[in-house]
Amino acid sequence: MTSTEPIKIQKIAKSRVGEYDVNNVPFGKVFSDHMFVAEYKDGKWHQGAIMPYQDVPMSLALSALHYGQAIFEGMKAYKTSSGEINLFRPLDNFKRLNISAVRMAMPEVPEEIFMGGLNELLKLDKAWVPDSETGSLYIRPFMIATDEAIGVKASDTYKFIIITCPAGKYYSEPIKVMVETNYFRAVEGGVGFTKCAGNYGRSLFPTKLAQQKGYQQVIWTDAKTHSYVEESGTMNLMFVIDNILITPATSDTILAGVTRDSVIQLARDWGMMVEERKVSIKEIFDAHKNGKLQEAFGVGTAATIAHIVTIGFEGKDYELPPIEQRKFSPKIDQALRDIRKGRVEDKFRWIIKVA
Ligand code: COI
Repeated sequence: MTSTEPIKIQKIAKSRVGEYDVNNVPFGKVFSDHMFVAEYKDGKWHQGAIMPYQDVPMSLALSALHYGQAIFEGMKAYKTSSGEINLFRPLDNFKRLNISAVRMAMPEVPEEIFMGGLNELLKLDKAWVPDSETGSLYIRPFMIATDEAIGVKASDTYKFIIITCPAGKYYSEPIKVMVETNYFRAVEGGVGFTKCAGNYGRSLFPTKLAQQKGYQQVIWTDAKTHSYVEESGTMNLMFVIDNILITPATSDTILAGVTRDSVIQLARDWGMMVEERKVSIKEIFDAHKNGKLQEAFGVGTAATIAHIVTIGFEGKDYELPPIEQRKFSPKIDQALRDIRKGRVEDKFRWIIKVA
């Protein structure tokens, strides 16, 4: 593709935005007026087009459906008090999409298609970006294999699509999680570091079992020994133990979360000690026993910060200090909101404005 080719834009006849209170819709169920679609065929990407959000006809032999060549990203746009639209670290999501693409034998998306499509889409649909304190427009870029073929091989054709939906809080309350020591999410040499659809599909059964026991999410442990914690649900996992921020180091079993990295950078900037390393279950419960486990929380794009109030392990529940007593995670939550909403200096150059 050549970057001079313009994006074709077909606008919706009448916006649907007035049908909703964008500050108050369930997560991931109401989609904005438009979507961006680009195609890969004949060995190259072709400039994409924006069109009204719609269902698309699909072959039942679509290879993504059968063999899981499907990857996605999650990112957010925020509205400032003057009505500008701020994208939070979109280039990091762009890069990570391509890391997932390489691992799944899919073609990398050119930056001008990803960023160009995103910018035009957000320009058209900016009325869909919530302006409430905790609201944002959740952006879901994804790529699927589109060959109509049942043979097991990497597809020759793909679609890269961006859809968006207004979002409020992902978890309305602090969460109760259970350490999972039977099933695992990712294995060394596998695809745990990618955002491939299969990582999420495989998590649903263990999560359902945990939910039947009264927990919202599981804490995933390493596949070999089940003695080190890795992630929680669809989020990276963090602890504050004895005033040190501790989080599992990224590896091929752990997603390099953008929120994870933002929290770490801010914490270091504030002079807090941060340790990225293996974190054992034993260490967590020893710290709990000694009164040193001050905070536990999940971090991710959808949830931002999800405070963990209870950790279940081997049939016993361990209660953590109440949120009002936590010094770090509420402060980091607020700091991230201030940056995203453009209320403070963007010291780390995380914001890209929709132009
Ligand atoms: C995100 O935080 O964007 C995620 O990946 C979670 C999502 C699957 C809802």
